[in-house]
Amino acid sequence: MAVRLSSTFVFRKLHQLTGILPLGIFLLEHFYTNSKAMTVVNGTPGLEFNKAVADLQSIPYIIFIEIGGIFIPLIYHAVYGLFITWEMRPNNVSYPYPRNWFYTIQRVTGIILFFFITFHVLNFRFGLIPGLNDKSVADHSDMAYDIVSGEFANWTIFAVYLVGITATVWHLANGLWLFAVDWGIVIGERAQRFAGYACIAVGLLLLVVGINAQVAFIHKGGLLGLIGLA
Ligand code: HEM
Repeated sequence: MAVRLSSTFVFRKLHQLTGILPLGIFLLEHFYTNSKAMTVVNGTPGLEFNKAVADLQSIPYIIFIEIGGIFIPLIYHAVYGLFITWEMRPNNVSYPYPRNWFYTIQRVTGIILFFFITFHVLNFRFGLIPGLNDKSVADHSDMAYDIVSGEFANWTIFAVYLVGITATVWHLANGLWLFAVDWGIVIGERAQRFAGYACIAVGLLLLVVGINAQVAFIHKGGLLGLIGLA
């Protein structure tokens, strides 16, 4: 017997899948590359980060990988996510349980991400934000660390990235849980509760890694350097 799937169901599943694959995986790679900003060679930070940017840009067909693997899934997930948000029925005021709050925060962080990622891509990938450095980090790998650290010296920009990284990590960690439950990977109340704790742990770890890399652009060695341990 042929099974007919409604288009809303397919669009929804595709939205959930793009959040994990490729976007979630890309975020891990992105934090890994950014973490190279922590490495200091002969007293100079940034050389390893610049090399990592150059290595990424030297991947054959990189522009097609970026378009197909990042930009298209990101635009799909963002636009469909905004559509879901527009249709939303928040109920965290009448039912103040964590899950009701998480439902609303998932949508609020989605909106923050929409503006943050647009700004971030135009800024560092393309150098197109008026008043900020007009050099693309990707196209000037020899200056990559200096471009980012120059911008982070401005506390407003630093704060924008702090909010953006926190919102992204929250959205991904809660998204992992939503995905695991909706796709039937985690079934039963007890298992879902443990999966919740695991997602909180993953989220906290990612938050420390993300912020540590961010701090490494304004302070040698990142957070450890800041407290005198590196
Ligand atoms: C760019 C703007 C973005 C918007 C507007 C947005 C919006 C949303 C919304 C509204 C949901 C909830 C869907 C639901 O409850 O059914 C969601 C889920 C999710 N998002 Fe995003 N998102 C964005 C970016 C991202 C990024 C960059 C990532 C990865 C780092 C991501 C990963 C996820 C994951 C894993 C889920 C859970 C999928 C599921 O419900 O099973 N999103 N997004």
